[in-house]
Amino acid sequence: MKPLVLLIEDHAATRFGFVRYFSKDGYEIREAANLAEAAYALASQRFDAIVMDVNLPDGNGIDFIESIRENDTTTPIIAITGAGNVQMAVEAMQKGADNFLTKPVDNSALAEYLRKTLEIGSLKRQASARQRMEKKDDTFFGTSSAMQEVLKLSSIAATSDNPVLITGETGTGKGMFSKWIHRQSRRSKNEFVEVNCSGLRGELLSREIFGNARGAFTSADQDRKGLLDIADQGTLFLDEIGDMSVEVQAQFLKVLEDKNYRRLGDTKLYKSDFRLLCATNRNIEKIVKEGMFRQDLLYRINLIVIHLPPLRERIEEFPDIVGHLLLQLGSPAEMVSAEVMTRLKSYSWPGNIRELKNVLERALLLTPRGEMPGEEHFSGLHSDQLPTHESPSRSIREVEATHISAVLELMGGDIDKAAKSLNISRATLYRRLKQIKDR
Ligand SMILES: Nc1ncnc2c1ncn2[C@@H]1O[C@H](COP(=O)(O)OP(=O)(O)OP(=O)(O)O)[C@@H](O)[C@H]1O
Ligand SMILES: [Mg+2]
Repeated sequence: MKPLVLLIEDHAATRFGFVRYFSKDGYEIREAANLAEAAYALASQRFDAIVMDVNLPDGNGIDFIESIRENDTTTPIIAITGAGNVQMAVEAMQKGADNFLTKPVDNSALAEYLRKTLEIGSLKRQASARQRMEKKDDTFFGTSSAMQEVLKLSSIAATSDNPVLITGETGTGKGMFSKWIHRQSRRSKNEFVEVNCSGLRGELLSREIFGNARGAFTSADQDRKGLLDIADQGTLFLDEIGDMSVEVQAQFLKVLEDKNYRRLGDTKLYKSDFRLLCATNRNIEKIVKEGMFRQDLLYRINLIVIHLPPLRERIEEFPDIVGHLLLQLGSPAEMVSAEVMTRLKSYSWPGNIRELKNVLERALLLTPRGEMPGEEHFSGLHSDQLPTHESPSRSIREVEATHISAVLELMGGDIDKAAKSLNISRATLYRRLKQIKDR
């Protein structure tokens, strides 16, 4: 079936040109000359995409985008704004447009956008269908390309029985995704056994993992199963594996190699058919180099590596994430004003989704039911202290200043090296630094 596109454009000649071009390109077009006609069209059928001029005779197209998004979060929207009106384009995107073009519109560029935007739309629909299917599952994959990659790898991980290593900063969802993989795997009916390797040191951890025979140590008054026994036929999740001591690493490597193990103080060999998932928020390659993690163990556990991106790299899908968390917190997904959203987007979220969820929860608690939390509830989030990403509202000068400072810091304050890395002369670097200081 041909993709059905709603074209909202008041200029008849532009509409005519568009219809001619895109009908040939394999689309079916429905035309609307104003917002009233567009509203009527949207109420009567479902479109695969909407292409709309935001300057319309009977109202503001930006508000119209917002009203579309109230009931429909998935249909892709491409906004077209007047020449050079980037501010408006940004606003359109903030209200939920997926892409924008400024006039004069080049049809071949629009065709390319349309193709991409339709892809986004189908991904979004898949994601929301998936979420409906997994009603009880709170894991939110999102639509950014990085998260689509995570989804792909997690699905592969769910069907395979190989070890998986999940990496990512604190609060990015490593624990959550490991449970997701278990639930989607053929082992889902059996145990998911989780052990945090940073909580238990040395022998305490091996006792937990391997179990012990009676008399293995002073307080061992009976034979005790280890987590390996319990994880038989199920999944063993070693959280914070980067914190496992080198001795336990050696013991655990032996289990992976020999496919059997002994309980502490026992001579009998036991077998357990467990599937291994591991997670760490540390840079594991680095701790391997430092001699704190065994390379051979890393090779055994990293057959599939899933890296969860930090929240600050998921700005494009921020409204979706916030909406998802709000629903999870029992509030309507739209409970965040545009100003608050801008503030949320410009903070760097070192605690990632966990921190965002806490911040939203607190704001909702402080706000009377049914009302939108005000900006004051988010005043603790200072974007200026956190130079890790560029928000759309920052000027080029600010971005440049942050970048220069970061490079200088990275080079330990060495002007020569910094200038080289920035590809500018020492004199220019000095001048820029002076400008930054004087501002
Ligand atoms: N993709 C996600 N969808 C929904 N909620 C999420 C997602 N990722 C994280 N969260 C929320 O953030 C919280 C933190 O996630 P989780 O405990 O899995 O992070 P983590 O990466 O294991 O963190 P840490 O390294 O500190 O252990 C969870 O309780 C969950 O509510
Ligand atoms: Mg965790």
